[in-house]
Amino acid sequence: MQIAIYVLIGIVVLVVGIFLITGLMGAPYVPTLKEPLADALTKLYKISKKDLLIDLGAGDGVVLQAASDKGAKAVGVELNPLLAFMMKWRFRKNKKVTVKCRNFYHYKFPKETTVVYVFMIGLRIDGIYRKIEKEATRLGKPIYFISNAFDVSFAKPEKHISQFYLYKVGPKK
Ligand SMILES: C[S@@+](CC[C@H](N)C(=O)[O-])C[C@H]1O[C@@H](n2cnc3c(N)ncnc32)[C@H](O)[C@@H]1O
Repeated sequence: MQIAIYVLIGIVVLVVGIFLITGLMGAPYVPTLKEPLADALTKLYKISKKDLLIDLGAGDGVVLQAASDKGAKAVGVELNPLLAFMMKWRFRKNKKVTVKCRNFYHYKFPKETTVVYVFMIGLRIDGIYRKIEKEATRLGKPIYFISNAFDVSFAKPEKHISQFYLYKVGPKK
């Protein structure tokens, strides 16, 4: 009985620790709400089966689900191993969705990438724009970038609906 209590406490400490550490390294896990997201993937950027969307910091996969429901392929990149594991399980039968457990700053986008989604605290948005620009330059084509809640300090959005900003990024000449 005592061993079971210690194991339980150990699991709780581990789970809380992983969320704390990944939260401090990146951004805390807060999911995008489904209703505004549906607007973003229709009115802001009309996603379709021609698209490959990457969610940088994919959380529980709510954006990947919404994109694949519209016929798009979707890749979720997530630092938190517990969230990544949960997404891998959630999408195990969905061939349109791929989940990568890694730091998105080191992730090379697939060549079919058309649009990147990010919900990350404001201070990071400029650096993430630069990362997308680097990938657009490497792939030799523009990539659309949807930012939830935070705008880029040096770039003008193509469109802005409620809390979402849409940018067309790169390639850099
Ligand atoms: C605010 S949540 C957004 C989740 C999801 N994109 C959504 O909109 O519902 C941010 C997520 O990004 C992850 N994250 C933060 N920094 C990261 C990094 N450098 N690489 C990969 N994931 C990261 C966090 O673990 C967290 O799950």
